Amino acid sequence: MSTVFNFTFVPWFRSVAPYIHKFRHQTFVVGITGEAIAAGKLQSIVQDLAMIQAMGVDIVLVHGFRPQVNEQLRLKNHQPQFAAGVRITDPVALDCAQEAAGQLRYEIEAAFSQGLPNTPMAGARVRVMSGNFLTARPVGIVDGVDFQHTGLVRKVDVEGIRRALNSEAMVLISPFGFSPTGEAFNLSMEEVATRVACELKAHKLIFLTEVPGLASNPLEPISEDNPIDTEIPLANARRMLAQLPAPEQPSDPSFYLRHCVRACEHGVERSHILPFAVDGSLLLEIYVHDGVGTMVIDEKLEELREATIDDVGSIIQLIEPFENDGTLVKRDRTEIERDIASYTVIEHDGVIFGCAALHIYPEAQTAEMAAVTVSPTAQGTGDGEKLLKRIEKRARAQGAKTLFVLTTRTMHWFLKRGFEPASPDWLPQARKAKYNWSRKSQVLVKSL
Ligand SMILES: CC(C)(COP(=O)(O)OP(=O)(O)OC[C@H]1O[C@@H](n2cnc3c(N)ncnc32)[C@H](O)[C@@H]1OP(=O)(O)O)[C@@H](O)C(=O)NCCC(=O)NCCS
Repeated sequence: MSTVFNFTFVPWFRSVAPYIHKFRHQTFVVGITGEAIAAGKLQSIVQDLAMIQAMGVDIVLVHGFRPQVNEQLRLKNHQPQFAAGVRITDPVALDCAQEAAGQLRYEIEAAFSQGLPNTPMAGARVRVMSGNFLTARPVGIVDGVDFQHTGLVRKVDVEGIRRALNSEAMVLISPFGFSPTGEAFNLSMEEVATRVACELKAHKLIFLTEVPGLASNPLEPISEDNPIDTEIPLANARRMLAQLPAPEQPSDPSFYLRHCVRACEHGVERSHILPFAVDGSLLLEIYVHDGVGTMVIDEKLEELREATIDDVGSIIQLIEPFENDGTLVKRDRTEIERDIASYTVIEHDGVIFGCAALHIYPEAQTAEMAAVTVSPTAQGTGDGEKLLKRIEKRARAQGAKTLFVLTTRTMHWFLKRGFEPASPDWLPQARKAKYNWSRKSQVLVKSL
């Protein structure tokens, strides 16, 4: 094996370790759209799920079947009917849904059963359990439209699902449910996955979808100037939803977002919208710092905020010990007061535990993160990471394409988070002029 391979593989594998530890024994609910299966992505998704399960995550998988039901209807020469983006399930559509669900369940179970040598499934033993975990009720008649056999989730058998998960099985749920009178109802994958995640108090709800994520301004198409918003705090997501028109089809920005918001409001801390078109998107989102797609996060907003003049005293108190031991460059009070708008702080119960400042160099489309500090009593709990993400987001919003830091002792913390070493000559002119050559700080740069 080549040394180069060892050199890249070992640090890479180690960098994944914290995520493996963190997610062990957590519960993820994963909703796969029928479109993902129709696009031939089932094998690779199953391989990734089997690996995630092997790393100790309890997985509930909910599959969709929109295109498969449409295909069955087409074969029967029956026109699909929708009202407000929701399928009207007449008796023919109900038959088609049953057939499609049966077929997909079979395909998914088959995919989890394979263990061909030289594939990621070699040696995997994934036990898949399905069952009547959902009780349904009819949508009924809305605005004069009778939705017939289209239903909503009435109850989730949490105990049944938990028992299956505790026996180390992966739970597979079709968007189908029965009423207490035994009547069948066609449900939507998104509603089922959301309800199951809420009832199970899952750690994550993940949708594998045909959309790449949500644009920063979801009213405009995704572009270089309107990139995917990788992380949306719940309060912002709610605001976005209020501005967006009601969804009519899955590609509409509010389609998955409203389910993510609902999940976050009911105790699921993180909900993700991921593109199935990106190979390995599940692995990238779960085990890599930056991830792909969009995550809605119920981060207590009062925790992370931009600083005000009242915070100057707390910031000085926080950074002073690190200035005294030489980790940080000295800043006097007037300088901090003048730059206070560039600081982000992190607060727990009204006490400031961390800060970082952002200085933009518009002419070079870059930005500096400075004075990043977390109080020693709070270090190692992820506050540094939260500050970095917020600063990255602020920098991106102001047009920066890269973010840089100057450090003498904290290089590895930044390297682990996607920064790369650069020479001081790389710095924008205005910053280079202030570079302290005797301090010999390392310049580290990250693409945004
Ligand atoms: C660097 C700093 C901001 C990180 O904050 P934090 O809240 O502890 O960070 P997180 O909780 O997100 O990450 C903690 C991880 O970083 C590691 N870490 C902390 N300081 C580090 C350093 N100097 N070098 C490398 N890794 C470091 C921890 O060991 C921990 O690793 P683990 O998750 O594998 O256990 C914080 O340690 C700090 O304030 N340091 C002193 C000031 C400083 O050096 N600022 C940077 C100046 S450029």
